[in-house]
Amino acid sequence: MLATVLFVLCYLALVQEMKCEPKIVYKMMNIECHTDPKYSTNASCRVKAINWNKAVANMDVDLVKPLRNISLHLQVFKKDFTNQYQPFLINVYMNICSILSRQNFLPYGVIFLKVAKTFSNFNHSCPYEGHLFARGVYLDEKFLPNNFPLGYYKVNFTIFETYPKILDYVGGVVGYVNAMEPIKIKKKNK
Ligand SMILES: *[C@@H]1O[C@H](CO)[C@@H](O)[C@H](O)[C@H]1NC(C)=O
Ligand SMILES: *[C@@H]1O[C@H](CO)[C@@H](O)[C@H](O)[C@H]1NC(C)=O
Ligand SMILES: *[C@@H]1O[C@H](CO)[C@@H](O)[C@H](O)[C@H]1NC(C)=O
Ligand SMILES: *[C@@H]1O[C@H](CO)[C@@H](O)[C@H](O)[C@H]1NC(C)=O
Repeated sequence: MLATVLFVLCYLALVQEMKCEPKIVYKMMNIECHTDPKYSTNASCRVKAINWNKAVANMDVDLVKPLRNISLHLQVFKKDFTNQYQPFLINVYMNICSILSRQNFLPYGVIFLKVAKTFSNFNHSCPYEGHLFARGVYLDEKFLPNNFPLGYYKVNFTIFETYPKILDYVGGVVGYVNAMEPIKIKKKNK
């Protein structure tokens, strides 16, 4: 009986600790945007440091013509011992428009949906037109299905228009992320 109570208390304490202190933070180090002038202009992508553990991305672009059927190619790379980026597990194509209209529920699609809803004005169904922006974008455990191993990652998002043609290059965003243990910020007791 006592053992059970102790076990439950320990378990709760553990859960509590995990909630208070994330084991891993995903700090955005840099971001690059590429666009094809046929589809967009005035692209801007910037990373702003908030503190040792957090940086956010701000992105803007003006579409020259509407995007009607958007495909996203998502590739993740992880730096190896020799400082080279190697493919890391994720290499998928998904149709953003069918995700936004809730026609499919792929795991990475759900992440995209959560991130778009939280940070951007492309939180609606297709087509996309005019000025698109995202503000204060960061990655967090709460957006991810599971934690990534510590290390440096390159996340490559390539966007294609698939209407009426198949895979016409629109642009891309490449993010560099450090999955790291949080740096404890010591408070001076003064
Ligand atoms: C790009 O920015 C310029 C200057 O702000 C603006 O006049 C122009 O309309 C923008 N282009 C598009 C396609 O919105
Ligand atoms: C989409 O984003 C805009 C701008 O941030 C916001 O005003 C609007 O309420 C959002 N719409 C939905 C459906 O979340
Ligand atoms: C991102 O992926 C696209 C399409 O596979 C490729 O053309 C581009 O070179 C990649 N960019 C980087 C920085 O890896
Ligand atoms: C939209 O794109 C998908 C591929 O992601 C394709 O199968 C479909 O035929 C396209 N629809 C239209 C109307 O172009």
